Amino acid sequence: MRNKILFGNWKMNKTNAEALEFANGLSDLVELASSHNVVLGIAPSYLALETLKKHTSGIVIASQNVHYLDHGAYTGEISVPMLKEIGINASIIGHSERRTYDNETNEKCHLKIVRLLQENMIPLYCVGETLEQFENGLTKEVVEEQIRIGLNNLDSADVSKIIIAYEPVWSIGTGKNASVEIAREVISFIRNVVEDMYGLNVANSIHILYGGSVKPENIDSYLLNDDIDGALVGGASLTKESFSLLLKKII
Ligand code: 13P
Repeated sequence: MRNKILFGNWKMNKTNAEALEFANGLSDLVELASSHNVVLGIAPSYLALETLKKHTSGIVIASQNVHYLDHGAYTGEISVPMLKEIGINASIIGHSERRTYDNETNEKCHLKIVRLLQENMIPLYCVGETLEQFENGLTKEVVEEQIRIGLNNLDSADVSKIIIAYEPVWSIGTGKNASVEIAREVISFIRNVVEDMYGLNVANSIHILYGGSVKPENIDSYLLNDDIDGALVGGASLTKESFSLLLKKII
């Protein structure tokens, strides 16, 4: 049985001082999560990564992006060795905001996933369709391409380390969460694609989360469902109160 994962993506929110304030007093929450076999994670801004890493334990701290090369003339980027040096072992890849604003293609996502796996780090790979694609019935086609290119030609032993997040772009930050039926259908479709690529054992062990307008009021309908392994949460992960409510609703 796969354990549940509750992951906060802070996006471009919280200064270092605000991240530190969040980290203080988090230990009860971490203990509660671990006693119910729930993995907690947070992806803060780059500047707050080290702060959260130093001032928390028992929680996965992830970057929101990473470059696939280790160094070079890539202004504004950070690399895997930089993350490793400060003890970070996970990174979001292919978030729709980066796909939209920063030309993050499926091919680049693939290179980043390969680089992370080389270092035994966890890629949290985001996939999902735009509103236009959804309305044109292209969801499965788009998501399949994202999965097939992103996860192409990997060592199958590594694939189960990847966490996939299905985040329909039209549901992110809009308050329009996808229905549980849609989330389930697409997530089980993703699992079938992974099975086709890497076999049943890998497909059964890989974690697939839902993301998009998840809140304390709706998280249980997703996570009390065996097909959906957790949630990647933006806005509702920003306060300790709301983050802890999200956890309490799923345990
Ligand atoms: P919201 O929960 O704010 O809709 O954001 C979802 C998201 O993009 C998480 O990565």
